[in-house]
Amino acid sequence: MDDPYTPAREALAGEGLGGGAAGDGDSADAADADPAVLAARLDENDPLASFADRYRVPEDVLYMDGNSLGPASDAALASLDRVIDEWRDLLISGWTDADPPWFDVGERLGDALAPLVGAEPDEVVVGNSITVNIHTLVGTFLDELLAGNGPEREGVAAADGSWDAAVDPAVLVNELDFPSDHYALRAQLRQRGIDPDEKLRVVESRDGRTIDPRDVEAALAAHDDVGIVWMPTALYRSGQLFDVERIATAAHKAGAYAGFDAAHSAGAVPHDFGDAGVDFAVWCTYKYLNAGPGSIGALFVAERHHGLDPALAGWWGHEKATQFEMNMTFTAADSAGAWQIGTPPLLSAAPLEGSVELLREAGIDRLRAKSLALTDFLIALVDYRLPAVSVGTPREHAARGGHVALEHPDGERLSAALTDRGVVVDFRPPNVVRVCPAAPYTSFADVLEVVDEIEAILDADAHEAYATSEGGVT
Ligand SMILES: Cc1ncc(COP(=O)(O)O)c(C=O)c1O
Repeated sequence: MDDPYTPAREALAGEGLGGGAAGDGDSADAADADPAVLAARLDENDPLASFADRYRVPEDVLYMDGNSLGPASDAALASLDRVIDEWRDLLISGWTDADPPWFDVGERLGDALAPLVGAEPDEVVVGNSITVNIHTLVGTFLDELLAGNGPEREGVAAADGSWDAAVDPAVLVNELDFPSDHYALRAQLRQRGIDPDEKLRVVESRDGRTIDPRDVEAALAAHDDVGIVWMPTALYRSGQLFDVERIATAAHKAGAYAGFDAAHSAGAVPHDFGDAGVDFAVWCTYKYLNAGPGSIGALFVAERHHGLDPALAGWWGHEKATQFEMNMTFTAADSAGAWQIGTPPLLSAAPLEGSVELLREAGIDRLRAKSLALTDFLIALVDYRLPAVSVGTPREHAARGGHVALEHPDGERLSAALTDRGVVVDFRPPNVVRVCPAAPYTSFADVLEVVDEIEAILDADAHEAYATSEGGVT
């Protein structure tokens, strides 16, 4: 079957845009060169087009911020409503008598998420938040290292399951990470008497936008004390997608565990954490998984690590069969469920049930194909129509996540002007406007409209009427 999105890719390759307006020529090629005609053709052939009707984006809003907070869907609202009804009707018995029972919500939703990240059902659980999950997972693996236990990977000599317990482990990160990750990592090092100024090793960016995997490998070659490599699957600002398998392999060859923050790809990009050899990972469900503001976090722990004692233990991570025997001794669940801590926030978990079902129906591979076509089309339009704007996101599909970073010296004002016109994007300092045409609910016509709006604002200097956070309306 032909790829329904091929025209968007051709547009990026310079074959589709740049011609006359609609009606300029009488050949099909001339019509294809008109972005409006191209967008209409792409929308008409889009097998996922009807999914947009199942999301509740207000009529007058062009929503391009699903990389921060995904919108509500009918399915998410329905699963939330069901749990609210259960609370009202069943009260405490909802833990056991709701259908399905609340008691195993973490494991059940973990099972639903596992295929999106290429994991076995018991390797994924929902619970806590990203930052809390970083604390407990990184803490757990630091404790393993301090006890003399390193990663194990068949055929990799340095990953033989051991670590020299006399060496304080370092954590390798990069300078473009989301700040909360570094706060948590520094705190976990500090709590073990390890100086984070010395042992949080930071890979620098060559261009301020991306991290070159060769620099991660070079840092591992230069320092033999790295016990954990902690990287994002996709950078929050530029949207660069990392080669997870390459990083995990490099980590293991250096005798280090490989952990990932998948906040900016889970639900948008298919992952294969199992085959890639990832040791552990965290992500949120409020971005591409569309489960609502502050919705429950998610985590992955490879099966070979099940049974470890979590750094932040709590009764919800106890072996399920005996949890209510109320023993004072903690027995970790033999699954990723062990890294749950306290009672799961049912109302923050309930929408995920519906929202993930919708993504599963669409299919993560089809969503990724459409997402790449949407961002291809956006990048082609920016190249062609917006000379004052540059694209900070890698152009290769393999290195591009779900959003596009548009760079403009007045990015903050441009972002404010767009939001004022109903085009919801966001700004990340110093100059990035993030535009996220999320596949489940964005059309190619929407992408064109965003570019039309940006062009109109910049042509009229309309953004100059807006204040920046430094103050001052000019
Ligand atoms: C990449 C990344 N990591 C961590 C966080 C922090 O997540 P939380 O507030 O759920 O702990 C975010 C929040 O947006 C993020 O984008």
